[in-house]
Amino acid sequence: MRVSLIAGNWKMHLTREAAVRLARDVVAAVADVAGPQVVLCPPATALEAVGRAIEGTRVLLGAQTMHWEPQGAYTGEISAPMLVDLGCRAVILGHSERRLYFGERDEDVGRKARTALAHGLTPIVCVGEGLQDRERGDADGVIVRQLAAAIHPIPLDRLQDVVIAYEPVWAIGTGLTATGPEADRVAAVIRAQLAAAGGVPAAEAVRVLYGGSVKPGNIGEFLDQPGIDGALVGGASLDAGAFAEIVRAAAR
Ligand code: PGA
Repeated sequence: MRVSLIAGNWKMHLTREAAVRLARDVVAAVADVAGPQVVLCPPATALEAVGRAIEGTRVLLGAQTMHWEPQGAYTGEISAPMLVDLGCRAVILGHSERRLYFGERDEDVGRKARTALAHGLTPIVCVGEGLQDRERGDADGVIVRQLAAAIHPIPLDRLQDVVIAYEPVWAIGTGLTATGPEADRVAAVIRAQLAAAGGVPAAEAVRVLYGGSVKPGNIGEFLDQPGIDGALVGGASLDAGAFAEIVRAAAR
């Protein structure tokens, strides 16, 4: 009943020419794969070029971050209307690298999610515990806190349109991953919290992704879980063949 979603987060990689090449390769590789939604999130500088390259295909455009205000004196920032203008359909919010290196706060993520929805963008809200949280036995506490702040400003009738990506920080770019059952347990914690906030039907409609060192060799373990609806893929999304294999796995 939930449509699976595979999103590629290209992070701060690729200038336009290489980005367009990768986008075209992905389009060609997933053209015959029906089912999962596929979103590519190039760096902001390549959004327009990649948007043109994938226009009219089954692949959708997404951004990696945005500001919570639609416009204003925020040097260096990019707004939701600007992303919509470039053809974006989704935006990653609260990625752990934004939280860690750029001081993005829990409440910022909520304001951004509300603004994204108001402009027709699907927010892909990232939550996840760090290694220290985990060692302290506070993984769930961190996730609950991040999720509460992220959904607090969202109108309840829009809750179902949010996508949550569970990304344990210690698994990002490290080659380590949560186990499938552990990711599924966290997805259940997330859905219980969403249900408490906005009711069971909304919580059941929300897609929960896993992220953190997802590769063709381990994606099956996550997609096998009833509560996991896809993946947010970093490193492996820079390889069209590997990314397409992950998309193909989600189609089965
Ligand atoms: P990774 O990144 O797949 O390279 O671990 C995932 C992410 O940061 O979203």
